[in-house]
Amino acid sequence: MLRTHTCGELRKNNVGENVTLAGWVRRVRDLGGLVFIDLRDRYGVTQAVVEPQNEEAFKVAKKLNSQDVVQIIGTVRERPSDMVNPDLATGEIEVLIKDIRVLNESRIPPFPVEDETNTSEETRLRWRFLDLRRPIMQKNIILKHKFMQSVRNFLSQGGFIEIETPFLTKSTPEGARDFIVPSRIYPGKFYALPQSPQLYKQILMVSGFDRYFQIVRCFRDEDLRADRQPEFTQIDLEMSFVDVDDVLSLVERLIKSVLKEVMGINIQIPFERLSYHEAIRRFGTDKPDLRFGMELEDLTEEFIETEFRVLKSVIDKGGKVVGIKVPLNLSRKQIEELTEFARSQGAGGLLWFKFENGKTSGQLSKYVNFTPEGSGTYLIIADKDPTAFKIAGLLRLEVAKRFELIDENQLKFLWIVDFPLYEISEDTGELEPAHHMFTHPKEDTLQFLDTDPLKVIAKQYDLVLNGVELASGSIRVHRRELQEKIMDKIGFTRERMESRFGFLLEALQYGAPPHGGIAIGFDRFVAIFAGRESIRDVIPFPKTTKAQALFEGAPSSVDEEQLRELHIQVIKEESENGKESEKKEKIN
Ligand code: AMO
Repeated sequence: MLRTHTCGELRKNNVGENVTLAGWVRRVRDLGGLVFIDLRDRYGVTQAVVEPQNEEAFKVAKKLNSQDVVQIIGTVRERPSDMVNPDLATGEIEVLIKDIRVLNESRIPPFPVEDETNTSEETRLRWRFLDLRRPIMQKNIILKHKFMQSVRNFLSQGGFIEIETPFLTKSTPEGARDFIVPSRIYPGKFYALPQSPQLYKQILMVSGFDRYFQIVRCFRDEDLRADRQPEFTQIDLEMSFVDVDDVLSLVERLIKSVLKEVMGINIQIPFERLSYHEAIRRFGTDKPDLRFGMELEDLTEEFIETEFRVLKSVIDKGGKVVGIKVPLNLSRKQIEELTEFARSQGAGGLLWFKFENGKTSGQLSKYVNFTPEGSGTYLIIADKDPTAFKIAGLLRLEVAKRFELIDENQLKFLWIVDFPLYEISEDTGELEPAHHMFTHPKEDTLQFLDTDPLKVIAKQYDLVLNGVELASGSIRVHRRELQEKIMDKIGFTRERMESRFGFLLEALQYGAPPHGGIAIGFDRFVAIFAGRESIRDVIPFPKTTKAQALFEGAPSSVDEEQLRELHIQVIKEESENGKESEKKEKIN
């Protein structure tokens, strides 16, 4: 070993020992008489000091730069009491240097390799190896490792078997686009990278593995945001002979155990449950943040006989009037800004009135025939159902964020259950599965499958934490006949069922047990407990929101030879002056 101790290890009881440390120079302070070096590695920082009598080492030390890699040989000594640094684990000692060896020099880094940085994320991603040397980033990545180990232990002890499923697969769409991989051996054929191991885990249940899990990478070609990456990690699991309560209880115990072990946090289980319908009515979203109040109020009845034209016309058309009781006396300007926000979310406008000591005032006050308690401002959205609830839900969150009404110290876990099996697609206007089409309907709503499919309720559950969708799962269909019927409703022909999902349908005919499972978005989970806004901070090498890897430079072009082998011809978009089409001819 090139070292006897790490940079986070030495304490008062090591005083007098001869030690060798290795690490990165954090900074050098030349105090004329003495040179101090802060040496850092993953474990911490140790102060080392060279005296001028040690001419050789003194010369080397004076020339060191931040991020040089050095080995230091010396003796541990106690710091004088006025030099003790209580913020540092090694703050009571320092190493008196006998010898310094420069193991490798560093060029001047493009940004300070420190926790505090105002460097742009783009620069951090371009120089990711330096960014990952910052203690905060190391902490995040190590936290992820700890969670991973803890999850593995919990599930293994619970009889779950970790099983790998393939990355080169047949497409099993989860609603996003697939990343596809061309086959060299079969011209014109493609593998798809899995959006999730959904079908494989179901097949493993048919095979009798009973309890499966995998901490697994998933790939989705979708629009990216702070909490979405094209490749991300799920804690994926599946169980046989279970119903909804069994899966929910397992996940609750898993999360409780892991948070206790890794974070020392005690959480209450079971988590609260809310039906999808109730979540929309009370919060306007299926991922409500329960760390603050301001539940939505359906005020349609209160205004049913109103003479206020806008409201009347909405109500006459079957729309809804939804109110948010904000406990703040908002200024005109603040209301205007919120109106802008509501418009940007698709609202026609925002109505309001103020209330105080049983009196109302402001825009709508003449038309209000009820007396709100307390004081504050009512914000009101009138629109179609459920649009009014959804916009009001976004407004509720916006108000809470703008006026800092969210208690950041709370953890509010919440199950959303009883989702509809189908919904009407906003893009196509057609029926589509709300989660995925392998979800089992609730038995008491099965009868609507033929008559009114939108009334069928699914055995689906989502886990929400502080307004973030953390996990999603369901009890699955385990009979071929029902599976075909569910696909049939969304317009799948026999041929399409057979060509896309023939292998699943077949397996369902050979003793498929009742089964169900869930997948937890692992990056989102870790990001929340690392206190990070973006999952990019807990993924070592993430993509930008434009789906690029800035450090290694992906995606990139490949050789023509490679393309030819894969039977691929690149079609360039034609540009205005026709230059690209010239290029195309050359490539061909
Ligand atoms: P679903 O598609 O809801 O379900 O995904 C499960 C969880 O994975 C996380 N997640 C993501 N995290 C980061 N980037 C993304 N692009 C991304 N997409 C999803 C979310 C989400 O709740 N096969 C089903 C699970 C099942 O039914 O068992 C599935 O994948 O936290």
